[in-house]
Amino acid sequence: MITIQKAIKEDIPFIINIENRAFFSPWTEVQITASIDNAYAAKEANVIKGFIIIETILDEVHVLHMAVDPKFQRKGIGKKLMEKAFEFSGKKFFLEVRESNFPAQKLYKGFGFKVISRRKNYYKDNNEDALVMGLEK
Ligand SMILES: CC(C)(COP(=O)(O)OP(=O)(O)OC[C@H]1O[C@@H](n2cnc3c(N)ncnc32)[C@H](O)[C@@H]1OP(=O)(O)O)[C@@H](O)C(=O)NCCC(=O)NCCS
Repeated sequence: MITIQKAIKEDIPFIINIENRAFFSPWTEVQITASIDNAYAAKEANVIKGFIIIETILDEVHVLHMAVDPKFQRKGIGKKLMEKAFEFSGKKFFLEVRESNFPAQKLYKGFGFKVISRRKNYYKDNNEDALVMGLEK
């Protein structure tokens, strides 16, 4: 059974491993390490299958990053990780997603997120726009 647990320092290499396989332009080890206090890991039999990084600012909840191990995608783990964000007591939820990332957009839309703005040329690797998605409870 998958459980979502607060990530610990020892999880960092496993999270980096997923990060490097899930993204074309992965976050660096430094970025992941700096975010570990805000990270939650999806674990099954002590194996990390995905993670999410969530930051709260007053009543806002920001989903900063998430990924599921490509070997275990499309099994509901992303949905479980997103549910973690809704355990926070905030009223406004925000995230950014690449314009081309339809699987992630579909996941977020399933929770009721809507595109609220666009950041032009946000991703420096290919100058792709970011869609800012938001949801108010
Ligand atoms: C986006 C991501 C986290 C989804 O994780 P996942 O565990 O595969 O997602 P789930 O199995 O929980 O899927 C939930 C819903 O999201 C949508 N979805 C997920 N993957 C999809 C895909 N490849 N194509 C279309 N819809 C998809 C579907 O609506 C799905 O519901 P369904 O399976 O009942 O149709 C995963 O694809 C991933 O890690 N991608 C690479 C990293 C990334 O893009 N992170 C997000 C950055 S903003």
